Amino acid sequence: MSQRIFLTLSIQLILSFSIFATAQTKSVDAEGLKWWQRAVFYEIYPRSFADSNNDGVGDLKGITSKMPYLHDLGVDAIWISPCFPSPQVDFGYDVSDYENIDPMYGTLADFDSMVAEGKKQGVRIILDFVVNHSSDQHPWFINSKSSKAAPHRDWFIWRDGKAPGQPPNNWISTFGGSAWKFDPVTKQYYYHYFYAEQPDLNWRNPAVEKAMLDTTRWWYKRGVSGFRLDAVDTLFEDPKLTDNPVLPGINKQGDPNTDEIHNKKLPEVHDVLKKLRKVADESDAVLIGETWTSNIDELKEYYGSHDNELQMPMDFMFTTVDKLSPPEFRRQIAQVDSAGGWPVFVISNHDKVRSYNRYGDGKNNDAIAKLMGAFYLTLRGSAIMYYGEELGMENNDPKRKEDVKDPIGRTGWPNEIGRDGERTPMQWNTETNAGFSKKNPWLPVPPSYKTRNVATESKDPNSVLSMYKKVLVIRHTNEALVNGSYTALNEDDANVMSYLRSYKGKAVLVALNMSASPQTANFNLADKGFASVTLKSLVATPQASAKGTEVSLEPFGIFIAEVSK
Ligand code: GLC
Repeated sequence: MSQRIFLTLSIQLILSFSIFATAQTKSVDAEGLKWWQRAVFYEIYPRSFADSNNDGVGDLKGITSKMPYLHDLGVDAIWISPCFPSPQVDFGYDVSDYENIDPMYGTLADFDSMVAEGKKQGVRIILDFVVNHSSDQHPWFINSKSSKAAPHRDWFIWRDGKAPGQPPNNWISTFGGSAWKFDPVTKQYYYHYFYAEQPDLNWRNPAVEKAMLDTTRWWYKRGVSGFRLDAVDTLFEDPKLTDNPVLPGINKQGDPNTDEIHNKKLPEVHDVLKKLRKVADESDAVLIGETWTSNIDELKEYYGSHDNELQMPMDFMFTTVDKLSPPEFRRQIAQVDSAGGWPVFVISNHDKVRSYNRYGDGKNNDAIAKLMGAFYLTLRGSAIMYYGEELGMENNDPKRKEDVKDPIGRTGWPNEIGRDGERTPMQWNTETNAGFSKKNPWLPVPPSYKTRNVATESKDPNSVLSMYKKVLVIRHTNEALVNGSYTALNEDDANVMSYLRSYKGKAVLVALNMSASPQTANFNLADKGFASVTLKSLVATPQASAKGTEVSLEPFGIFIAEVSK
């Protein structure tokens, strides 16, 4: 081969490779980030966000009407908890049709209008895909239970009992009792990790896998930008149905504690995630995972060995800290950073007591709510907010068993009171039912809605809402906060949590007083490459200030500053 031909061939090869590389990375912006890395996500529990038809339950038209609010707040994507047809046994987490909208929430046309309005306002839509189980009212399950020979029999997990009246093994439903339910028609048991009305799909059946992958394609075509994958840890079970080891003690539902090694986090989960990811990549979509990992190695696995599984496995380890502890937060952040993927921070959701109550000390809860917002929204990674968190919404827990709506609260009362408290209606204004609905809402709003609501807080520059808005503005506009590295500062300080976010020679310093007494913190930034600098405040609480690189903070004070050379 002549030198010239060789050269031409090489150039062609390089060119075609770079065209391929461009196609692969089309979604990366000039700074090298994908859209979801810049995005602030916001979880909406659709029953409780905004009720356009005043029937006491929220709906899609309600969400659409609030798009301008979400845009102004600084939200880039909303994750809507399941809004598909459902008997609502687990409030939508029991899906009877994966490709439709429950009439309670509206129609597919309402969904399309919501997507369109979202596009106008720069708010993407993420749906909640309940992959582990369907509803027992899904046509697949109705067919499955009809006879042993039914075409959908093997879409769920059916087994004979161990002996008459005995389930196949000792697996426990996380919602209470055995995870097996006997069906008198075919005299076999079916498996349900959650409620009996939520039979587990059999992901070992290729037909199930195909139907579920096709469902994601169907929604991508409709304009969805990704999915939050529900309960991925429990997709697979040991086919031999080996008993789980029994541990000492009982859980909140009164069942024996067991080590769920045979029905949780099985390696097969990762094969499915890779397939879901492949389809997601065709649409530049994001996959967020409900991943209850107990250590960093487990979290790492969910990203996939070649960034080929979940882009955003949720790091819940952070939510287990539950107190203002700089050393513990530092440890968690360092660990998550070491996982190598893009971190995802969450402080509250529809299954957890609201962050306002979990971190609050009962006296300074508003200040602490601002502090927590200023904290996790300035870390390196994507953030997922929970509706109302920006207002300092508190839990409104049921006081009597007869008021409980959540199934786990009904079966577990009084040890487990359920999750109603964190799912109450969004607090829009001071009107009846906090402006959520003209009719009594499905869950009651707490009396504190009178002061903690969007209308009132929008007028108060010192409200929790105003702090969230300010932080979200700098988070979107300051490249160091989006793209910068994270460096822990003053790591021995037990009270002030501080860190530097730096990018291309620019940096932002964040100092947060996590204690109830005033604090001063001195920063030596010279060894971080920032000698003789001044701190220019970007967002701060009223009494926080800097003299040179010494920062003074009132109790629970916030100081976020640009480091200027
Ligand atoms: C997930 C959801 C939770 C639901 C459960 C069963 O954990 O977050 O709300 O009850 O799955 O679908």
